[in-house]
Amino acid sequence: MEKVLVTGGCGFIGSHIVDLLIDQGYEVIVVDNLRTGNINNINVNKVKFYEMSILDEKLTEVFEKHQPHYVIHQAAQVSVSESIVDIMQDEEINIRGSLNVIENAVKYNAQKVIFASSAAVYGTPEYLPVDTNHVVEPLAPYGVSKYTVERYLRMFKKLHGLDYTILRYANVYGPRQDAKGEGGVVAIFADKITTQEELTIDGDGEQTRDFVYVTDVAKANVKALKSGDNRILNVSREEKVSVNELYKIMAELSSYSKEPNYGPERKGDIKHSILSNGETIKELNWKPDVELPAGLKHTLESIKTS
Ligand SMILES: NC(=O)c1ccc[n+]([C@@H]2O[C@H](COP(=O)([O-])OP(=O)(O)OC[C@H]3O[C@@H](n4cnc5c(N)ncnc54)[C@H](O)[C@@H]3O)[C@@H](O)[C@H]2O)c1
Repeated sequence: MEKVLVTGGCGFIGSHIVDLLIDQGYEVIVVDNLRTGNINNINVNKVKFYEMSILDEKLTEVFEKHQPHYVIHQAAQVSVSESIVDIMQDEEINIRGSLNVIENAVKYNAQKVIFASSAAVYGTPEYLPVDTNHVVEPLAPYGVSKYTVERYLRMFKKLHGLDYTILRYANVYGPRQDAKGEGGVVAIFADKITTQEELTIDGDGEQTRDFVYVTDVAKANVKALKSGDNRILNVSREEKVSVNELYKIMAELSSYSKEPNYGPERKGDIKHSILSNGETIKELNWKPDVELPAGLKHTLESIKTS
């Protein structure tokens, strides 16, 4: 049985990856310090779980014991705004933590690392949709730390032959996303809508994003175990949706009739962001299956039943 170590496996995206790996018959090892993740997101009886930071020296013991064939690295400090407030913490978790993971992958002969990168590496788009040849010009430490790890992975391939796939995610949404803290806009709206509270749209709501459903992101990660070697690939629907449209679909799905408030634009917010996905479809033999209204329906239902 092939073994996959998932860092951040108790988080929003990581836990969906863990579910899919279990379904597909992989042996799964999860390392997560539960900083933002939740143990209830995974079936602990079906995985080997280590409550541990990726910065911990003992990580090497986990690798030594299990000798994973693959590593899917999701654990991170995930907040763009926190990365600005505390740049050292972002650097520590996202760069040094990642290096601890990658060095152990090399030491214990893992075949490949799949890395969760982000649209944040691109900065302000010069054209749309943004493809992987677009210039990289991050606007916050978070994007710099993600890009730094991308560069390390490319260097590790040359130095030690460790294969990688870098997946740059667009805006991921779906069940188990935390509405607190930074949470994605879908999680925040879903939370307000189900509790019948008023919600606020930042700016005029005409800003657009590319929303990709979390199980599609999980599928891309699992496909990348066996394809897309040493490639950088966007994970997106390549579909432009404004925040006003998003609000309208979600309100209609839940018979929510409160008019939204409009607040000031968020400082540093990008007006339009869409990532191309043609290369990813071809390289991973993958496609995003879940259309936005269906994904939003599942997300809203998951909150009601949780
Ligand atoms: N959600 C998005 O839209 C999005 C977009 C682009 C990239 N990403 C990336 O995807 C990955 C998963 O993000 P998510 O949205 O599921 O966030 P999340 O906060 O739900 O998941 C992150 C997980 O990592 C764990 N973690 C944090 N620090 C750790 C440490 N030092 N040691 C061990 N575990 C640690 C957390 O407890 C959590 O379970 C992250 O790398 C993030 O940067 C997410």
